[in-house]
Amino acid sequence: MELLKKLTQANSPSGNEGDICRVIEKEIKEYCDDIKIDALGNLIAHKKGLGDKIMFAAHMDEIGIIVTFIDENGFIRFSAVGGLYVKNMVHLKVRFSNGVIGVIGSEEEGFNKKPELSRLYVDIGAKNREEAEKKVQIGDTAAFIGDCYIINDTVISKALDNRAGCYVLIEALKRIKNTDNDLYFVFTAQEEVGLRGAKAAAFAVKPDFAVAVDVTDTGDTPDAPVMAVKMGNGAAIKIMDRSVMCDSDVRTHLIETARKKHIPYQLEIMTDGGTDAGSIHLSGSGVKTGGISIPTRYIHSPSEMASVKDINSCVDLITLLASDKWKSNI
Ligand code: CO
Ligand code: ZN
Repeated sequence: MELLKKLTQANSPSGNEGDICRVIEKEIKEYCDDIKIDALGNLIAHKKGLGDKIMFAAHMDEIGIIVTFIDENGFIRFSAVGGLYVKNMVHLKVRFSNGVIGVIGSEEEGFNKKPELSRLYVDIGAKNREEAEKKVQIGDTAAFIGDCYIINDTVISKALDNRAGCYVLIEALKRIKNTDNDLYFVFTAQEEVGLRGAKAAAFAVKPDFAVAVDVTDTGDTPDAPVMAVKMGNGAAIKIMDRSVMCDSDVRTHLIETARKKHIPYQLEIMTDGGTDAGSIHLSGSGVKTGGISIPTRYIHSPSEMASVKDINSCVDLITLLASDKWKSNI
């Protein structure tokens, strides 16, 4: 799981995928025939074959903040990159890509005040604007700091959304042996700001079938929404989220594959949020698309939590799906 740790600690808010892209490229290059980085920053790995053309996608960007203004006292105002839980952000730490670290503060005084994004700032310890501008510029992005801990079956880290998905694709790619399938493993950019990279990648690849791999919410904590998915109950096979109704043939193929090989799985309906599947299934004249998700608690916080067993179940399932024939089964 050292690879998972390394992936989570890359610093790549949407639009700045360079850091994570380099880590992934180095990790996979000997396992595929061709790697391209396209205009949007998607990393597209091709493992050539003459059979079914299948695209697996996992977004590699993460949520973060972007600098909009630096005041005369050196405090940094910012906007959101992706969906932030503003009420949980006070006193979190962020890291800019040049290594500068700051603490998020709020203008609101006292406990139990609900901060608004416009009243938050980042404090990098600068004395004034001039000193701050030597370290941070308008337009710079920063990611949350959240070390990765793996204890027995539990992993806690920032950016499990979606470095856990990237890990699943990388491990599956390494394990595929003999197959006729024409495989594309795509690590997409800018998912957190609206499923953007996947749109261009799917257009370029034009797959017969696609599967997006991402995290999903769970319904198993005291603060959770009513939802069937539980951490530790296996790979979540997506039925729908706000961006997609998954293709029923693909869904059935995913379920049958898991069942035949006794891979633990559960069914997922996520009523909040979307995934790359949303962009992929609408590309070109439409693509039969499914989703596989890693059940994850506290998504979009620096302390996301998932089960190592679930992650490994997803690796097992993707490895089989990449190796098997699809057209004869669908
Ligand atoms: Co996300
Ligand atoms: Zn995600």
